[in-house]
Amino acid sequence: MAAWSLADIPSQAGKLAVITGATNGLGYQTALALAQAGAQVVLTGRNQDKGNAAVEQIGQQVPGALVSYESLDLANLAAVAAFVERLPRGKPLDLLINNAGVMALPTRQTTADGFEMQLGTNYLGHFALTARLLPWLLKAPAPRVVNLSSLAHHTGMIDFNDLQGERWYSPWKAYAQSKLAMLIFARELQRRSDAVGWGLASIAAHPGVAQTGLFEGPGELVSMMSRLAAPMFAQSAADGALPTLFAATSPDAAAGGYYGPNGLGELRGAPGSALVMPQARVSATAKRLWEESERLTGTTFKV
Ligand SMILES: NC(=O)c1ccc[n+]([C@@H]2O[C@H](COP(=O)([O-])OP(=O)(O)OC[C@H]3O[C@@H](n4cnc5c(N)ncnc54)[C@H](OP(=O)(O)O)[C@@H]3O)[C@@H](O)[C@H]2O)c1
Repeated sequence: MAAWSLADIPSQAGKLAVITGATNGLGYQTALALAQAGAQVVLTGRNQDKGNAAVEQIGQQVPGALVSYESLDLANLAAVAAFVERLPRGKPLDLLINNAGVMALPTRQTTADGFEMQLGTNYLGHFALTARLLPWLLKAPAPRVVNLSSLAHHTGMIDFNDLQGERWYSPWKAYAQSKLAMLIFARELQRRSDAVGWGLASIAAHPGVAQTGLFEGPGELVSMMSRLAAPMFAQSAADGALPTLFAATSPDAAAGGYYGPNGLGELRGAPGSALVMPQARVSATAKRLWEESERLTGTTFKV
């Protein structure tokens, strides 16, 4: 069978998608491809100038593209709530892509709400956003939520005794935990949807290794990876976005599934099923993480 590619994206005409962190990297490539497929896309990010530039660039490549930019800082729960309030309610939300992320911040930083920055941005912000958007998603005929995880989840654990890295902070431990949390969240959202009949498809994806702004982040280790490792192993941002696009649009993407590149070590290649590590499959962890996330963010998944 031929490898799945951009050409396989079914028409998205009439659909509305929200993508977090869409001003560059994988999020931008995802927005561009969805706009090319005819979707109305709301790009979100933290920087209005970057947002305007991204919208303009997509407009140049896709004449008549239905794209707009909205500010959304996931490291601030009040900003997440305000974003949801600002969105026009005219149309159901077909697709939410929880893509934004930061990686391996060298020193422990905190969000506006006092969460460790990687857990807060990569996971808790998306948890709160998805909870707040749920009623709107469930108005769509076949809503999908796509969560970005990572190969980093392989080394992750949910450290309930030190979720916020207050006792011991390690840049990679915090990143891996946040990406494991995103995978657990995706699977648990599917389980809960199935249990109550929401009809939602919750799917996780990872890009393997893709050359993006993530490798230009702060910290010596990240910049060393950017200079040395990433160019050797990484695929382009456009190729890295394919598993997300497969999860978001393919009729063959299974609800509750996890997709990444199908090449050696899932580093690069066309989209295929990805390995879910055992620590992402423990239902007691999923239940506890969900309850803890509801408590921390003050949000619940109510219809
Ligand atoms: N690239 C890879 O190899 C790789 C591998 C595994 C997983 N991933 C995952 O893929 C996702 C996309 O990353 P990328 O590689 O495309 O990196 P990127 O180019 O750095 O893009 C990350 C995006 O997230 C946004 N962002 C960061 N903090 C935010 C916040 N507080 N609120 C809202 N948006 C925020 C960034 O906005 P600004 O432009 O304002 O910074 C940027 O648009 C991440 O979740 C990452 O963990 C990437």
